[in-house]
Amino acid sequence: MDKRPIGVFDSGLGGLTCVKEIMKIMPNEDVIYFGDTGRVPYGTRSRETIIKYVEQDIRFLESFDIKAIIIACGTASSAALPWIADGKTVKIMGVVEPAARAAVKATKNKKIGVLGTGATVKYGKYVENIKSICPDAEIIQKACPMFVPLVENGYTESRVAEIIAAEYLQELKNAGVDTLILGCTHYPLLKKIIGEFMGSGVTLIDSGAAAADSAFEFLKAENLLSGDATSKRGNCRYFVSDSVEDFSLLGSVFLEKTIHEDVSKIDIEKY
Ligand code: DGL
Repeated sequence: MDKRPIGVFDSGLGGLTCVKEIMKIMPNEDVIYFGDTGRVPYGTRSRETIIKYVEQDIRFLESFDIKAIIIACGTASSAALPWIADGKTVKIMGVVEPAARAAVKATKNKKIGVLGTGATVKYGKYVENIKSICPDAEIIQKACPMFVPLVENGYTESRVAEIIAAEYLQELKNAGVDTLILGCTHYPLLKKIIGEFMGSGVTLIDSGAAAADSAFEFLKAENLLSGDATSKRGNCRYFVSDSVEDFSLLGSVFLEKTIHEDVSKIDIEKY
């Protein structure tokens, strides 16, 4: 048993998709969340910049006594995780492997779509992971750079989101994918629009939730969960590098609980 919190980070709101799943399947866990809202998006940056940001995010989370870190960001998991995990004492997990595994489990026709940021598509880590488990899978990737600003600005159920989604998704629909990885953790916030466009025959894989499910398996196997179901409910503290108000407002809507009092601003450049 280990009562220390789990650290979770993303460039902004997207990682809350992972936090929501943690609250559901591991309700006793404490969480320290960092959303790098002052530097979002990561997906348009060079690998050097993404690695620098991710190292700072990890150093910030390590300033708490945490037991593990989930990189709840497809971009950071693709462009940085393979290069930074070595030599770290704390266990660091990303979203790519768990989402790839979930997609292979879900697909029947072995046609899998991957939506991600420009950097995620460029580094091809979802493709690599899917192919390593299912070599004959047919995989179609699509970069959707306009989805992140839509989410960060609260346009998740707007007409403009519908139009942009149709533009991005038509070729995946035409290709007949039966499984679609929402490979950027911001995208599950657009799940309704994406799901309606793709149709009910297509399984959507939430990469943030898949990472939380996989972290649960790891913590359980290592006897690192914080306690049994009768223990106190876990707390989540949120830190951001820009406006507390914007994050609190949109985060509260997504998590369906008020988080205003639990959000603080930090200067990430100090880490
Ligand atoms: N939520 C992120 C991801 O999973 C980051 C998107 C971005 O900052 O560009 O890729």
